[in-house]
Amino acid sequence: TTVEWEAESYDMGGHDTYMHKEIHEQVDAVDRVLRGRIDDRFATVRLGGLNLDAREARGVRRVKILGCGSAYHTGLIGAQLIEELARIPADAEPASEFRYRNAVVDPDTLYIAVSQSGETYDTLAAVQELKRKGARVLGVVNVVGSAIARETDGGVYVHAGPEVCVVSTKCFTNTAVAFALLALHLGRIRDLSVADGKRIIAGLRRLPEQIAEVLRGEEEIKKLAAEYANAKSMMFIGRVRGYPVAREASLKLKEVSYVHAEAYPASELKHGPLALIEPEVPTVAVLPDDDLLEKNRATLEEIKARSGRILAVAHQEQEKADHTIVVPRNEPELDPILMGVPLQLLAYHTALALGRDIDKPRNLAKSVTVE
Ligand code: G6P
Repeated sequence: TTVEWEAESYDMGGHDTYMHKEIHEQVDAVDRVLRGRIDDRFATVRLGGLNLDAREARGVRRVKILGCGSAYHTGLIGAQLIEELARIPADAEPASEFRYRNAVVDPDTLYIAVSQSGETYDTLAAVQELKRKGARVLGVVNVVGSAIARETDGGVYVHAGPEVCVVSTKCFTNTAVAFALLALHLGRIRDLSVADGKRIIAGLRRLPEQIAEVLRGEEEIKKLAAEYANAKSMMFIGRVRGYPVAREASLKLKEVSYVHAEAYPASELKHGPLALIEPEVPTVAVLPDDDLLEKNRATLEEIKARSGRILAVAHQEQEKADHTIVVPRNEPELDPILMGVPLQLLAYHTALALGRDIDKPRNLAKSVTVE
């Protein structure tokens, strides 16, 4: 079935760009992806379109997530959530790499294609290749009735609503939430406890208000963007939960502001990229308050020792950083979802400061339906 989006949802609603509008729509969008799915009685979620019964879910030995661009990055977050909550080995790979490398298709692996448009050619081709080889493929898709939604065996709709800006924001966040729902569902069929299920559900319910809180800090982020907009290049770093956030934030900045950016696991910095650190190459460090915080602080010290400037995204003010964007705490597994939001605003305001064509960056298309 195809649900037509209402014409008024394309209205700019007083925003100057779709990107700005879509960043601010995230509060409602996250609420929508949760709506009607939470099952408090069993501390789980119900996903009507999954088409994977409990016995099949228990038989899954691995999860492989495929997508392109920001969708691939949500897959990185999704894989971590599935490993953490369901304890199933999981990873993500660009769909194009997967389809060209004659990958081993394993019957006990659950494949998941992730796509905003549901029409990205490389992702669709990966689905078709998997289907041809007899694999089970689910979709985590935004556009209802799209090609990938139709060709997969089942899946989870993202319900972000129409996303017009080429650069993905609300769909990115909603897709990450959809993966949290899937991970919780798989976890509760397997070994995740009732207490942990309840904890994650409570965290999910806090997300919309916490996103609103992050968005209320926009003026401060705008000032920071002006300060960093003339960087020669930007380094984005994080460890484990912070790393996919750094990857996506780096992509976001490149796409919309054309400022060169690189994302690295914080621990890899000393194996090469540290050579690039100088005052003109600032670092954005994503630092959730988890057991890696101390290690991350040590990395900040290494950067400071090379006179690098640091903008931290963290749960508390970071002494070693020149600036900290403080983000509210959620449950540790869900922190990456929230920590991406201020960095969308950073990319947006950097692009604005540099006078870029925000909704239609040069050389890019919203959906790439050719090879
Ligand atoms: C294009 C867009 C990206 C998007 C990617 C995947 O490259 O510019 O923003 O993440 O396609 O699109 P999809 O619709 O499959 O999520």
